Amino acid sequence: MKLQSANINVMIKACRNAARPLIRDFGEIEKLQVSVKGPGDFVTAADKKVEKILIDELTKARPNYSILSEEIGEVKNDNEFRWIIDPIDGTANFLHGIPHFCISIGLEKNKEIINGIIFDPIKDEIFTAEKGNGSYLNNQRLRVSGRNKLKDSIIFTGGPKYESKEKDLVLEEYKKFSSNVYIPIRKMGSAALDMAYVAAGRCDGFWQRNLNYWDIAAGIILIKEAGGFVSDFKGSANYVENKTILASNSKINQEMIEIFK
Ligand code: IPD
Ligand code: CA
Ligand code: CA
Repeated sequence: MKLQSANINVMIKACRNAARPLIRDFGEIEKLQVSVKGPGDFVTAADKKVEKILIDELTKARPNYSILSEEIGEVKNDNEFRWIIDPIDGTANFLHGIPHFCISIGLEKNKEIINGIIFDPIKDEIFTAEKGNGSYLNNQRLRVSGRNKLKDSIIFTGGPKYESKEKDLVLEEYKKFSSNVYIPIRKMGSAALDMAYVAAGRCDGFWQRNLNYWDIAAGIILIKEAGGFVSDFKGSANYVENKTILASNSKINQEMIEIFK
């Protein structure tokens, strides 16, 4: 079984078209023109190319939908639907030739995410989810892991960024987690893939401060539809506004929340 909705097909097609030049650019990484947007936050020619292809494709298929995309920002249209796009999540990996990055697109209906796609072009892994219809990796249904003790879990996080004003706080949280898990914490460099991996049961839990909506939009529906939990650090649903996200399987979420108390 797999997801058949028309919007998912539009999203897959847009990702496939954008992935072709992205894979080529990854192979020729040294030729990419790199400009610096701010410390630790690179924008590449590839980023912009991917964003343009995605937006052209999505707009061709759904001309009325609004858009929030990392590089171009907000495109407002009079409609209840909005695409939330991160053209490349894991840009620093991409720039350094590390094959762990993705395209991430979420679709909102009346402010709620109803569809998501996270596409890893190098491993050719396509994670999709649809409200009420489950999460999939390629054509395989996904479930979060069943691990029920934080100590035995594999946990991912990211940050803090170079310019972060909360460095001490982030490192303090890191220290607490690292004293509560046997396996050292992973920092993979792509928050969207971190969330896709929670949905796929590869990772048991993930937490991070100061992510943007486009980093997490697709991951939210993937995890929920795979039976997992998404909240802020206190367990509330205001994770987008509070810019603190905690995502996990259905067994260790409470133990993770305890760490922040
Ligand atoms: C970044 C990645 C990274 C996270 C950063 C994000 P980008 O997104 O998701 O894992 O730690 O906070 O900004 O810049 O590669 O799109
Ligand atoms: Ca991102
Ligand atoms: Ca990005």
